[in-house]
Amino acid sequence: MTAADKNMNFSQLSQKRYSVRSYKNDPIEPEKLNEILEAGRLAPTACNNQPQKIIVARSEEALRWIDEATPCRFGAPAVLIVCYDKAKCWSRSFDGEKSGEVDASIVTSHLMLQAEDLGIGSVWVMYFDPKAIIKNFSLDENIVPVALLPIGYPASDSAPSDRHGLRNPLESSVAFI
Ligand SMILES: Cc1cc2nc3c(=O)[nH]c(=O)nc-3n(C[C@H](O)[C@H](O)[C@H](O)COP(=O)(O)O)c2cc1C
Repeated sequence: MTAADKNMNFSQLSQKRYSVRSYKNDPIEPEKLNEILEAGRLAPTACNNQPQKIIVARSEEALRWIDEATPCRFGAPAVLIVCYDKAKCWSRSFDGEKSGEVDASIVTSHLMLQAEDLGIGSVWVMYFDPKAIIKNFSLDENIVPVALLPIGYPASDSAPSDRHGLRNPLESSVAFI
């Protein structure tokens, strides 16, 4: 079954997805890229404040700027830089905790899973130098980069890493009370 198989349900999709660390150079079709970005737009955010900001890095220069910030592009033809705006995110009155990282993470999950549904691979990358991203992409002071998401068609030699199959049993993370 291919990831783009229209009969694939969510359970099958989430089982099939894995972190892709080897890409073809083929560009992503504009309508597919748009569908991926649309899934990010529809993601829930705290109080629906929608503080996300996504930069699509795909020009030669932008990809060079990504490579200066992380070794984890893995040859992807595009990288989504998922950020949030500190001035827009929700703040919890009890303790001042802010929602930005959570909001941006949910957006990133939507982008990743929509990409998978279209047969496009991705890998969530946190191993990047935020200062380099901020400087290279001239981000405003309120904009915080949370995740880099290299996306593209998996190379023919792409395969899940050994870690992909390692998931703890439900009992280790879930409590019924
Ligand atoms: C918050 C977060 C940060 C991650 N950062 C990186 C990273 O910087 N580089 C990388 O190669 N993979 C990164 N990953 C991918 C994980 O290593 C991967 O999801 C995990 O090992 C499970 O493998 P799977 O995605 O193939 O199922 C990250 C994943 C998450 C959720």
